[in-house]
Amino acid sequence: MKQQLVVLDESFVEEHLDMKTCVDLMAQTLENVETGEDVQYLRTAIKMPNDNILGLMPGYSNAGYFGTKILSVYLQNSQEGYPSHQGQILIFEKEHGQLKGVVDATSVTQLRTGAVSAAASKVLANPDSASLALLGAGEQGESHLQALLTQFPLEQVTVWDKNFERAQEFARKENEKYPVSVTACQTSQEAVKDADIICTLTPAKTPIIEADWLKSGVHINAVGACTPDSRELAADIVKQARFFGDNEESVMHEAGDFLLPLADGLITKDHFLGTIGQVLQGEISGRLNKKDITVFEALGMAVEDLAVANYLCQVANNLEE
Ligand SMILES: NC(=O)c1ccc[n+]([C@@H]2O[C@H](COP(=O)([O-])OP(=O)(O)OC[C@H]3O[C@@H](n4cnc5c(N)ncnc54)[C@H](O)[C@@H]3O)[C@@H](O)[C@H]2O)c1
Repeated sequence: MKQQLVVLDESFVEEHLDMKTCVDLMAQTLENVETGEDVQYLRTAIKMPNDNILGLMPGYSNAGYFGTKILSVYLQNSQEGYPSHQGQILIFEKEHGQLKGVVDATSVTQLRTGAVSAAASKVLANPDSASLALLGAGEQGESHLQALLTQFPLEQVTVWDKNFERAQEFARKENEKYPVSVTACQTSQEAVKDADIICTLTPAKTPIIEADWLKSGVHINAVGACTPDSRELAADIVKQARFFGDNEESVMHEAGDFLLPLADGLITKDHFLGTIGQVLQGEISGRLNKKDITVFEALGMAVEDLAVANYLCQVANNLEE
């Protein structure tokens, strides 16, 4: 049957992708990677002469689709009022390889990244976690707050950014949206000192938090550093933590948080305990006790984008009928 092409823009994504649904979809997708239902390929990040990145992220699902996310990454954009990640997800049906959807990648990336961290936090963080620290007051700060609120009884939220005014503006806006207290902090140390869950959401190249500053039992979603030469976590955190990732191959190729302490001989490869999909499947243990420090290293997977794009194409097709 000839495939009808569906083109879905940012407003369609925002209107039809409920965050709680997205968290459940991401938990299922993380498991699907482990069972082989979804196949994840290593991404290609092309550094262009203007120092920005053209990214190609392919994936395949036995559920009936495959495709790629194609996007530009302009990390300075937030200072000038543009999104840092912009592009499209191209999704094909797997029987005859017809293009079935073109879905706005900026909004999907924003929402699914927070949802993935929330799915990981659900199995790694202490369930009574009430305080959250967001390091980075950008798009991911917004998405992580929205997603974690669907899973935890949060009362206190702190936010830090190297641009303090941005953190203040973030706190003002988010305080209006949710019935939680959001406070801007002048330092990352102040922001994390009482946090049960920390999300690192910056393009920092060097560590923004240290082990001595952390509360016992904290869970960290390390999201911002996605290249082998950048990291947000000090090596002493990684060394003490039970360390998990979204995908082993990606962690071993792209995660500076892991690869830099590994190169310095502070940890061995065995320090990587496994993927969050393995934890979700019950194949490996996540947190062993209330006092463990746990880290989820999120590098992002195309199968996450494709699962969301597939879901939204189904929603659009159902609306047409
Ligand atoms: N792992 C994933 O799947 C995934 C997905 C999307 C984005 N990311 C990464 O997450 C990070 C945040 O993305 P975003 O879309 O929120 O970006 P953004 O540009 O909207 O926000 C980034 C924020 O970090 C602040 N910042 C920049 N450098 C900093 C530093 N050295 N220390 C502290 N704060 C600093 C900026 O002022 C800005 O407020 C980026 O590094 C991006 O590449 C990862």
